Amino acid sequence: MTVADSGGALREVLKNSAGTKVLVPTMGALHEGHLELIRKARVLAGPGGTVIVSIFVNPIQFDRAADLAAYPRPLETDLAACEAEGVDVVFAPETGSMYFPDRSVTVTESLLSSGLCGATRPGHFDGVCTVVLKLFLLTGCDLAVFGEKDFQQFAIIRRMVRDLDVPVKIVGSPTIREKDGLAMSSRNVRLTLEQRADAPRIRWALLAGAKFDTVSEILETARTGIQASPLTRIDYLSLVDAETLQPITELSRPALLATAVFYGEVRLIDNVIVYPAGFDSL
Ligand code: PAJ
Repeated sequence: MTVADSGGALREVLKNSAGTKVLVPTMGALHEGHLELIRKARVLAGPGGTVIVSIFVNPIQFDRAADLAAYPRPLETDLAACEAEGVDVVFAPETGSMYFPDRSVTVTESLLSSGLCGATRPGHFDGVCTVVLKLFLLTGCDLAVFGEKDFQQFAIIRRMVRDLDVPVKIVGSPTIREKDGLAMSSRNVRLTLEQRADAPRIRWALLAGAKFDTVSEILETARTGIQASPLTRIDYLSLVDAETLQPITELSRPALLATAVFYGEVRLIDNVIVYPAGFDSL
C-alpha cells in the first residue's frame, strides 16, 4: 500500500497503475461502514485493479467550526485498517495541498441540495461536490463508491456526474449498522452513554413510519417515535421523492424518509426508503 500526501505524489503513484481504478472518498475515522465500501471497491476493481481510499477532512463542507475542530483524525489507525483491507493507494492530502488560499471556483448543485441537510447546512453540498470532483480528477478513477447512509450526498453526486459528463460510475452501498440498529458514524463516539443507548430510536421511528402509506401518517409516526425521548432535538424530518429529493404530497413513487437528529451537539442522520404498493426497489 502506498500513501500519497499531495496531488502530485498521487499522480506519480498512479502513473503506471493498470486495470479499473475504484475510489472510496472518506474523511477518515474509518469504521465498519467505510470498510464495507472498501470491500465493495476491492471486488469492483478485481485483482488487477487499483483501490484508492481518500482520507481528507474537507474544511469547505463544514458549516460549524466546532464540528470541524471536533472531527476525529486517527490517521495511523485508518492506514492500518486500509492496509488490512487490501487497499492499494491511500490519498491523505494536507489542506494546503488541496486548496489555494484564493480559490474561487465551486461546484453547486441547485435542486437536490435545496432540502434535507442542504436546508440546514448552508454551503455543505457545494463543499462536497467541489471536493469530490477534485478527487475524481486527481485520481482519474473509473468508479467511486458512496454509502446510502448519506443518501442525499449519493443522489447529488450522481446528478453532478450526469449533468457535467464526469466519466465516473457511481456505485451505492447500503447503510451498515450497529447491532441495535444505530447507523454507524464517526460521530457516534461523541455521544454520552445515555445518548448512545437512546439513539437507536431514530432507526425504529423511521421504520415505524415507513409502515404507513399516507404522507401525514408516515411523518407523524416517525416524529412521535423520535420525540418520545427528551434527549432528541429534530433538525429535520422529511418525506421526499427518492430521485428528485423534492417534498411529496402523496406516496405514488419510492420516497425517502430522512431525518437529522441532535443529541446535544452531536447531529446524527438516518433514512429509509418507503415503497408504495407496486414498487419493491428504486
Ligand atoms: P464520510 O462521512 O467519512 O463518509 C465516507 C463514505 O462512507 C460516504 O460515502 C458515506 O456515505 C459512507 N458511510 C459512512 N457511514 C456509513 C455507514 N454506516 N454505512 C454505509 N456507508 C457509510 O461522506 C463523506 O465522508 C464526505 O462528505 C466525502 C464524500 C468524503 C467528501 O468529503
